[in-house]
Amino acid sequence: MATVIDGKAVAAGVIAQVSEASASLREKTGAPPGLAVVIVGDDPASHVYVSSKSRMAKQCGFKSVQHTLPESTSQTELEDLVQSLNQDPEIHGVLVQLPLPGHLESDPVIQSIRPEKDVDGLHVVNAGKLMTGDLDGGLISCTPAGAMLFVRQTHGADLSGLNAVVIGRSNLFGKPMAALLLAANATVTTAHSRTKDLAGVCRNADILVAAVGRPQMVRSDWVKPGATVIDVGINRIDAPERGEGKTRLVGDVAFDEVAEVAAAITPVPGGVGPMTIAMLMANTVTAAMRANNMTPPSF
Ligand code: GUN
Repeated sequence: MATVIDGKAVAAGVIAQVSEASASLREKTGAPPGLAVVIVGDDPASHVYVSSKSRMAKQCGFKSVQHTLPESTSQTELEDLVQSLNQDPEIHGVLVQLPLPGHLESDPVIQSIRPEKDVDGLHVVNAGKLMTGDLDGGLISCTPAGAMLFVRQTHGADLSGLNAVVIGRSNLFGKPMAALLLAANATVTTAHSRTKDLAGVCRNADILVAAVGRPQMVRSDWVKPGATVIDVGINRIDAPERGEGKTRLVGDVAFDEVAEVAAAITPVPGGVGPMTIAMLMANTVTAAMRANNMTPPSF
């Protein structure tokens, strides 16, 4: 049976580090790190995520500002708000929750955030720094940064000689995750829906990272014995065994059977999820300390 990686405990460690850094910034400058989270429309899942981000920011001693805009918000109104947050010296991090309602284009909004305040790591400047191996100069997308912390805890900082497979190629996760693994010297394959013999490719992985959004797709016969398996999926499925109309959350990995084969595995919930919020707080305190010529902690 694999070791189950405790995301809540690792995230709590990051939050403790963030809170300490936040206090030292406040002591030096008189002002806390400031995080602004922008949400447009009524998507219930996005509101749950945003509330927990705002709550955690307060817990870390940040100035936490939430802008809740109606579904009818125009592109210009949203970009004007981002501009005002870019100019606000008390705000060090700006996050626009995705997806935006259909009539809004997300890319111009994301690219209009000042790269120094782009705590989601989605601006091309930050993505470019990561791709060119500058891991300390920019801001790294929160979920891959969190997943990488698990990999480092399990294998150390140098992944020389290890094969890593990332299933998924999104800008938010798959591409930055592959770049982080490569920067740590792993031999990296980015697999996706068009990959031939996906199971065979996965069986080659010492580190297997699944981010496809298909419930329990990765089965035990896809996994090399002794592998580390990081499950980034969060899928809600029907759970009639819990009663009529009930649902439960599962990842992209068939946890019970894969845990019999892997050496280490992240659960869903309680694995990567808590790390995403923790790394958002880490990015915010990092941005705030850099803005005040202080050296941020390494996470
Ligand atoms: N929606 C789902 N995940 C994320 C994320 O990491 N950042 C933003 N901005 N929106 C999201």
